[in-house]
Amino acid sequence: MPKANFQYIMAKTYQIGIIGFGGFGKFLHHHWSKLDQVHIAAVADPAAEKLQDLGATKSYTDWRQMLDDQEIDVMAIVTTPDTHHAIATACMEAGKHVLIEKPLDVALADARKIIEVRDRTQTVAGIDFIMRFNPLLQTLHQLMQRGVFGKLRRVDVENYAQDEELPIGHWFWNPAQSGGILIEHAVHFIDLVHFLQPAKVLAVNGLKHNRNANQEDQIMANVLYEGGLMTTHYHSFARPGYFEVTQIKLAYDLADIELSGWIPFRAKVRALVNQKTKQILENSPFFQLSETVSVENTADESRPAGWGDTRGHVSRHTINSGGIAYEVNEMLTGVFDLQQSKQDVYAQCVQASLLDVIKKIENPSHQLAAPLEAGLESLEIAVRATESARSAYADDRMV
Ligand SMILES: NC(=O)c1ccc[n+]([C@@H]2O[C@H](COP(=O)([O-])OP(=O)(O)OC[C@H]3O[C@@H](n4cnc5c(N)ncnc54)[C@H](O)[C@@H]3O)[C@@H](O)[C@H]2O)c1
Repeated sequence: MPKANFQYIMAKTYQIGIIGFGGFGKFLHHHWSKLDQVHIAAVADPAAEKLQDLGATKSYTDWRQMLDDQEIDVMAIVTTPDTHHAIATACMEAGKHVLIEKPLDVALADARKIIEVRDRTQTVAGIDFIMRFNPLLQTLHQLMQRGVFGKLRRVDVENYAQDEELPIGHWFWNPAQSGGILIEHAVHFIDLVHFLQPAKVLAVNGLKHNRNANQEDQIMANVLYEGGLMTTHYHSFARPGYFEVTQIKLAYDLADIELSGWIPFRAKVRALVNQKTKQILENSPFFQLSETVSVENTADESRPAGWGDTRGHVSRHTINSGGIAYEVNEMLTGVFDLQQSKQDVYAQCVQASLLDVIKKIENPSHQLAAPLEAGLESLEIAVRATESARSAYADDRMV
């Protein structure tokens, strides 16, 4: 697996403690163990059966025992969301740096306290928003900053996930432990929007459905941002694994981009370009051009034959979109393709996320790619949308 794009020489080998050794804690342990100059010193989980066959890695059934371990530099908090505040603040009070799993916590007040303790203890604290480390999304971000696609007007996230491995008693369904689907899961995608195009939030609302008193299995959030960007996040945990699908559609003035997979490693692009933006795209990492057609030969089916020429004197090279005029001369289709498997991209993202925290420890002026403030901003939207969804329709089965 290629690691070269984020490897750098560290001052020492960093010792990591992982608190919470369930599915994701094990995944992090597996992939962080492959990093040079990173050593998993200890793991903690109350379920003793999860702590077997760890070789030289120390293990504890109570994470508090790790706080006195002078060897550990960074604690990764990979427990259920409701526990993040208590564990993260205790770790930072003990002088440990932390990488906190999303969501920051389930409650906004607790999430804010985490930030207060970081500031007071002057520790380094990041949130594991892995999307921010995905090279495909980083490339889109850079192209957006250069204005290649025009203004982003709409993001539509459609996410159908399986629930076959989430039995009714799983903490995922318990709002007190997970916060619900938007807080536990959608924060990744809400943060993706903030990463791509930060803007002030103007309005948030939501809708949800419960299949029974314990399982809120479909939920959606709508968000309006200053400047007109509107986003929708629809998440369903109610389908078989065969139909597990995540599609993220980005509608810009000059482009439609469609990302597939919740760890996107491929994106389809259709874009109106001029010479300059075409060249930027062609030189962009991971981009493969399929074809270009002049705008004169590109069908505009918004006006069927017989409608007459409604454009009148305006040149086909001037595109008016939402009150903005753009100069273009070709329609281009292509793909961004990381040419890696989902597994490899996911592993690379979790490795880069830890290394970013280490970079900040080594160099205080380094800007964290995923600061806690990003965790708070996405949590605020998830909480507001969840409250709106729960008050929008009072299901009789819930009382
Ligand atoms: N960034 C990502 O891509 C990503 C992916 C999956 C999960 N997550 C996050 O990771 C966290 C854990 O999710 P998971 O899927 O591994 O869940 P899980 O249920 O598989 O594991 C959670 C583990 O935490 C342990 N735990 C609970 N309370 C604890 C405590 N007080 N002290 C120590 N351990 C405790 C449990 O025993 C369990 O082993 C959640 O916040 C989740 O949202 C992030």
